[in-house]
Amino acid sequence: MNILNLIAMRVLSAAALALGCGAAWAQAVQSVTLPLETARLKPSKLAGYQLALQKCGICHSADYISQQPPAMTAAQWTAEVRKMEHAYAAPLSDGDVAQIGEYLAVTYGGAKPTLGPVAAAPVPAAAPGVPAAAVDVQAVLKANACLGCHAVAQKIVGPAYHDVATRYKSDPQAQAKLEASIRAGGSGKWGPVVMPPFANLSPQELKALAAFVLKQ
Ligand code: HEC
Ligand code: HEC
Repeated sequence: MNILNLIAMRVLSAAALALGCGAAWAQAVQSVTLPLETARLKPSKLAGYQLALQKCGICHSADYISQQPPAMTAAQWTAEVRKMEHAYAAPLSDGDVAQIGEYLAVTYGGAKPTLGPVAAAPVPAAAPGVPAAAVDVQAVLKANACLGCHAVAQKIVGPAYHDVATRYKSDPQAQAKLEASIRAGGSGKWGPVVMPPFANLSPQELKALAAFVLKQ
């Protein structure tokens, strides 16, 4: 199996998920071992860096980005991100497109930042009295593209949520460990592929997501 086939499979699996047939597709590719990602996105304090980690790693490695011509302008980078949204159904909001476009233009093309200083989005203060149960888990999963990389029953880029629940079933620290994993991302617990950090999520959202995963 060569690398292009693997990339094609990741793309198709995301597309299949968008169409709501992720489980069936994932079943077909469950025997595939994903390759170690060799190229990583260049770090930056711009908010678009965190978004790019979360949303550009679903279908292909960062090689695709580092191989673009160095003279690309901010407008060209933003158009490239827009193309991912429109041609390939990458899960991106208008705000994501602007911020990721800026990050790529500044970090890879030497452009000046235009969206102002947006270092690490602050974690929203916990609204007192709002229980995790009030969080719309499906909406949070969708907004953060979790389901581009995870399905309940089958491994995609990340482990199946059912496998996560099984592994932590008798661990009394499971809830806290998963909240920390989702917030910080990382690799090595399930394989070499890196999960991006989700430091933008509120404590209630992290609680609700971890509880949801543990119930699968
Ligand atoms: C839903 C899947 C998907 C997501 C998510 C995605 N891409 Fe792509 N990307 C593709 C496909 C498909 C190609 C074309 C692959 C090919 O031609 O071999 C591609 C190609 C590219 C290329 C190469 C130039 C080109 O236009 O073909 C760049 C650069 C790129 N993507 C950047 C990004 C960035 C930046 C993000 C995050 C905003 C992103 N991609 C997210 C599917 C995706
Ligand atoms: C770009 C792909 C990607 C995205 C997007 C993503 N994940 Fe992951 N996730 C992974 C990978 C890869 C791993 C395995 C990491 C490891 O081996 O340590 C993982 C692991 C996990 C685990 C298990 C952690 C542990 O401690 O065992 C949970 C729970 C999880 N993800 C939840 C989420 C949630 C919730 C979201 C959305 C907020 C999300 N993931 C978004 C790729 C992703």
